[in-house]
Amino acid sequence: MGMKVLLVGGGGREHALAWKIAQSPLVETIWCAPGNPGIAAHAHCVPIQAEALDELVAFAIEHQIDLAVIGPEAPLTLGLADRLRRHDIAVFGPSQGAARLEGSKAFMKDLLARHAIPTAAYRTFTEPEPAWEYIQQQGTPIVVKTSGLAAGKGAIVCQTLEEARQAIDRIMIQREFGSAGDEVVVEGFLKGEEASLLVFVDGERVLPLAGAQDHKAIWDQDRGPNTGGMGAYSPAPALTEAMVQRAIQTIILPTVRAMASEGHPYRGILYAGLMIDGEDLQILEYNVRFGDPECQPLLMRMRSDIVPFLLACAHGSLDGMEIDWDPRAALCVVMAAHGYPGSYPKGDVIHGLDQAATHSDTQVFHAGTRQHQQQIVTAGGRVLGVTALGDGVADAQRRAYAALHAITWNGVQFRRDIGYRAVARERDS
Ligand code: AMP
Ligand code: GLY
Repeated sequence: MGMKVLLVGGGGREHALAWKIAQSPLVETIWCAPGNPGIAAHAHCVPIQAEALDELVAFAIEHQIDLAVIGPEAPLTLGLADRLRRHDIAVFGPSQGAARLEGSKAFMKDLLARHAIPTAAYRTFTEPEPAWEYIQQQGTPIVVKTSGLAAGKGAIVCQTLEEARQAIDRIMIQREFGSAGDEVVVEGFLKGEEASLLVFVDGERVLPLAGAQDHKAIWDQDRGPNTGGMGAYSPAPALTEAMVQRAIQTIILPTVRAMASEGHPYRGILYAGLMIDGEDLQILEYNVRFGDPECQPLLMRMRSDIVPFLLACAHGSLDGMEIDWDPRAALCVVMAAHGYPGSYPKGDVIHGLDQAATHSDTQVFHAGTRQHQQQIVTAGGRVLGVTALGDGVADAQRRAYAALHAITWNGVQFRRDIGYRAVARERDS
C-alpha cells in the first residue's frame, strides 16, 4: 500500500512540493492543508489553515497519515512537528525547539556566538534607548532586525544614522511588526554576495542540495524594500563546490552539532543564508524550511524521488544517500500583485494560465491564488512563480519570461532581471 502524505501550507513552495511528491511511486494519496488551486491538481486540498494545530493533528490521526511535510515556518515555530511525532507520525520538519533557529534571531545569534560560528557582530535589545546608543557607537552601515518572524520584511539595512533611528522607531515604538519586534538584533553590515545553501538534516548528518540564489528586493537591480523573494535560480555561481564544503564544515555542521548537543536535534531542511566576500564566508540567517521561491527551481532540477529524502530526515537515516540533479539550470520569476510588499488588492482575474501551460519544461506554481467560479483570481501578494529549465541560467531566464508573458492581470508586477548576475557571469566565462 502506498503512503498517505499530509502537506501543510498553501503557497508557491508547497505547490512545488506537491508537484514533486505526487511524482513519487511510494505515495498513494496527498492531502494538503489548506493548499491552493494549483496544488489541487496534485493533492486533495482540505480547508484547514497551516496554523490550526489542533485541527491538523486531528486530521492526521483520522486519515492515518504516514508522513507529514510542513512547508511554512509558522506551524513549525508553534510546535506542529512535536505534536504529530507524539502520535508516531513521521514528520519532515524541525521541532519547536529547533525551529527557534528561524523563529528567534536572538536565539540563533546567541547559539552561533556560544559555538564560535562565523557571523556578523551583534547585540540584542528590548528597549530603544540602549539600542540607539549601541548604533551610535558602532556607526553605519548597520542592520536592525526584529528577532521574531516578520515574513522576510523585518531586517532593515541602514546606511545612515537617521535610517537606523527610524528603524528603531518603526520596530520598537510604532511596533510595526507587533510582538516580533519585542526583541531586536542590531548587527554589523556584511558586504559581499548572498547565496542560499539548503541542506537536508537528519538530526546528525547533512546532505546539501544544489545551490540557489534569490532576489529579495522588489525592484530591478535589487533596489527598493525587501520582499519574501521576487525570483530565484539554481545553480548559484557564487556557491562553488569548495565554498559548499567550507560552508558545511565551518558553519552548517557546527550548527547541527550545537543543536543536538543542546538537546534540540534538527530534522528537516535547513536553509543557510550565506554572505560570501572573496574568501570570507559568514552566516546571515537560518530558515527552518525550504525557501520560497528557491524551492521552485530546486525541485525542478531534482531528478531523484524526493520522498525517500523526506523520510530519511524524519527517521535519521540520510547516511549514504545522494541526490541526482538535472545538469540544466532552473529559474523562477515571481508575479506579484500591485502594491506588494505593502498592501495590495485581491480578486483580480488571472488570464493566460492555459497558454503558459503549453510551454515545455516550464511550471507555473501558484502562490496566492483562489478559484472563483470558473476563474482563477489573485489572493495574495506573491501570486505565481513561473519556473523554467534551460541550458544555463540565460536560457532558463528566456524560457521563464516567455511563459510569463502569456499571463496577465490588472496591476501585475514582476522583476525583469531575475538571474542578472548569473547571466552576466555566464556571458563573461
Ligand atoms: P534576514 O531576514 O536576516 O535574512 O535579512 C534579510 C536580508 O537583509 C538579507 O537577505 C540581506 O540582504 C540583508 N541583510 C541582513 N543582515 C545583513 C547583514 N548583517 N549585512 C548585510 N546585509 C544583511
Ligand atoms: N526566499 C527567501 C525565504 O524564503 O526566506
